Amino acid sequence: MTHALQAGTFQLGDRSVNRLGFGAMQLAGPGVFGPPKDRASALAVLRAALAAGVNHIDTSDFYGPHVTNQLIREALHPYADELVIVTKVGAVRGADASWNPAQSPAELTQAVHDNLRNLGLDVLEVVNFRAWGTLHAPDEASIEAPFTALAHLQDQGLIRHLGLSNVSAVQIREAQGIAKVVCVQNHYNLTHRDDEALIDTLEQQGVAYVPFFPLGGFTPLQSQALSDVAAQLGASPMRVALAWLLQRAPNLLLIPGTSSVTHLHENLSAAQLVLSADVLARLETL
Ligand SMILES: NC(=O)c1ccc[n+]([C@@H]2O[C@H](COP(=O)([O-])OP(=O)(O)OC[C@H]3O[C@@H](n4cnc5c(N)ncnc54)[C@H](OP(=O)(O)O)[C@@H]3O)[C@@H](O)[C@H]2O)c1
Repeated sequence: MTHALQAGTFQLGDRSVNRLGFGAMQLAGPGVFGPPKDRASALAVLRAALAAGVNHIDTSDFYGPHVTNQLIREALHPYADELVIVTKVGAVRGADASWNPAQSPAELTQAVHDNLRNLGLDVLEVVNFRAWGTLHAPDEASIEAPFTALAHLQDQGLIRHLGLSNVSAVQIREAQGIAKVVCVQNHYNLTHRDDEALIDTLEQQGVAYVPFFPLGGFTPLQSQALSDVAAQLGASPMRVALAWLLQRAPNLLLIPGTSSVTHLHENLSAAQLVLSADVLARLETL
């Protein structure tokens, strides 16, 4: 059995995916702005992920921009039936690599068509509406208008399932009044745990929770306590951080990002690491 399969599965829309997936953002290049640091390696990481049993890839057309989706298409198209590609809309990149909101109905429609074209798909399996918030945390602004626009695109058959990113519990309830929400992608990891209650609520609803920055993102997690636990277990801190997420709740779907095949395999091996109650208690103190 490959590593990704050992993590078990959870429902994402009408598909069952392995709980260890892959986040493709970092492949776009330094600053998530193309060209990739090493194009051949980026393609190799994507192919290695699929070979190891990954069947859930997270992306966006604003990574690069366009670059990450074009890499996914080059590496993996025609796509395996079991592969679920989840994308997100709501931003565009400036020529200076800046991140800018793009959340009008016209901009969201353009983004959906850009994703379809660059991924080489007729329909997008899951599209997350990425609320702007305060960059990596939600605010309480209404998302009714943009989410309604995406629901119309879903009605037109361009999107199979809708999700949300960077949202609060109130915004999720607002969106659920408009269309079904199959996943929520928010900032969460061992040391950033604002969403504890939200994860429990979504678990009860059968909605997938997909932590972004599971390893700390642009500044990967660093903690003496985590390093101590990892050393005791003979594992790397990153592997422990992912194993902790897998044990946190069954509705957590992981999308760690890496541009290295070695790191990819290390991350997928988190499924084989079972953390004892004692270790979990020590990690609680982080
Ligand atoms: N919705 C949103 O607003 C949002 C925001 C951010 C990210 N995301 C999604 O979440 C996914 C994951 O986030 P992320 O990639 O930014 O952050 P991440 O998964 O928390 O961490 C990625 C960083 O950790 C390093 N890393 C990965 N595995 C490692 C290992 N085994 N040992 C040492 N270093 C390791 C990577 O460097 P190497 O390349 O050197 O391995 C990279 O610098 C993204 O790909 C994207 O799809 C969504």
